[in-house]
Amino acid sequence: MESKKLIIAIDGYSSCGKSTLAQELANSLNYIFIDSGAMYRAVTLYCLRKGWVNGNFLDKESIIKSLDQIQLDFSQDDNGVKVILLNSENCEQEIRKSYVAAVVSKIAEIKEVREKLVEEQQRMGERGGIVMDGRDIGTVVFPNADIKLFLTATIEVRVERRLLELQNKGIETTKEEVRENLIQRDLIDSNRKESPLKRAEDAIVLDNSLLRREEQLQWALEQVQIRKSNPT
Ligand code: CDP
Repeated sequence: MESKKLIIAIDGYSSCGKSTLAQELANSLNYIFIDSGAMYRAVTLYCLRKGWVNGNFLDKESIIKSLDQIQLDFSQDDNGVKVILLNSENCEQEIRKSYVAAVVSKIAEIKEVREKLVEEQQRMGERGGIVMDGRDIGTVVFPNADIKLFLTATIEVRVERRLLELQNKGIETTKEEVRENLIQRDLIDSNRKESPLKRAEDAIVLDNSLLRREEQLQWALEQVQIRKSNPT
């Protein structure tokens, strides 16, 4: 008999390797991987293009009114890499850029935006067999997730990792810009009224500052094994 397909939630601060771990874990288990942050980034890109967010300016009313015009889907590019589609456009590269990162946490604070995305995320996880990463996955999206992981790493390590990631994608930025953005987003994400970033009480914490990718994957696979041998 095929074993039960779990829901695995991975939360944590900006750029501590959540998506990398979630993707590798999903590949290993043959599960679906969902990067919930990409959904917030794609909504943000839509709002930026409409001119509804700019520096400190935020036209919340227009954003809320137009949410049903935003269709998000996940697909694969020609190399088999997972990408997000915003109204059918592959915007995977664009949403990683600094101008999107600079305002995404403001958009993610809007209650109606969260309601829309949480509902879509819950639908994606209905049948289990999913690894989803974000800020509120173990607390709000899947409070009954089978496994909840909470990742953390030092700010120095996170800045270096994000810098490398952006350089590899050919996105121009500086160390200072990355550092400022991570600190700023963590602050907004942790203190917002709607679904703030916090560790679920039953989440297992991993500080992966000193771990290589293979080591953190190994650790996560062990957590899955432990959970599967202790079903509740
Ligand atoms: O990759 P990184 O950890 O830097 O961020 P991300 O996962 O791409 O998420 C971008 C932003 O979306 C976060 O800073 C949050 O403001 C927001 N977000 C959220 O509020 N809830 C989620 N479940 C995922 C992301």
